[in-house]
Amino acid sequence: MTEQPYHLVKKIGGARYEIDTDRARLDFRVLHAFLVNSHWAKGIPLAVLERAVQGSMPFGLYRGGRQIGFARVVTDHATFAYLADVFVLPEHRGRGLARWLVGSILAHPGLQGLRRWLLGTTYAHGLYRKLGFAEPAGPFSFMERLDREVYTGPGLAAEAASG
Ligand SMILES: CC(C)(COP(=O)(O)OP(=O)(O)OC[C@H]1O[C@@H](n2cnc3c(N)ncnc32)[C@H](O)[C@@H]1OP(=O)(O)O)[C@@H](O)C(=O)NCCC(=O)NCCS
Repeated sequence: MTEQPYHLVKKIGGARYEIDTDRARLDFRVLHAFLVNSHWAKGIPLAVLERAVQGSMPFGLYRGGRQIGFARVVTDHATFAYLADVFVLPEHRGRGLARWLVGSILAHPGLQGLRRWLLGTTYAHGLYRKLGFAEPAGPFSFMERLDREVYTGPGLAAEAASG
């Protein structure tokens, strides 16, 4: 699928912020330095992160041309999308940037008409509620198969293979 450029600019107090889907602009040093220490992707190898970004729609957030935030979307481009790895670097938080970033992702022309958006969050429910996300209505719920040690230990595949 060809990727259409998506580039937004916003001025806040004299600073120039951008959202850009251009993969060539991504600063993998910033992305990896944050995500390798995050609670959800702790220990992720750089090569795995690069492969994950290659297989998703990445959205970079920039201040004065430097990367200060990120999110990526995993989608079938028709029915559903999964929002992952959302972050804004600590010194840039509290200015509405995550709301702008996630709102802009939801408004992306290539991501319209989907039946379901998914995401996982530990602390930021408030942010996503304001953008239309909610816990699934019971008795429906999601299930997962989670390998917490995939980046740091033998992982589920080795466990399954050993019987
Ligand atoms: C969560 C995170 C992306 C928010 O970034 P931010 O730029 O500071 O968020 P914003 O300034 O756009 O906040 C938007 C709104 O969400 C709310 N919000 C932000 N972070 C929140 C949190 N952790 N819990 C609850 N509400 C939150 C804000 O109060 C704000 O509400 P308002 O519009 O009424 O003022 C940022 O704190 C971060 O990178 N955290 C670490 C990574 C993380 O936890 N990511 C989420 C994993 S899914």
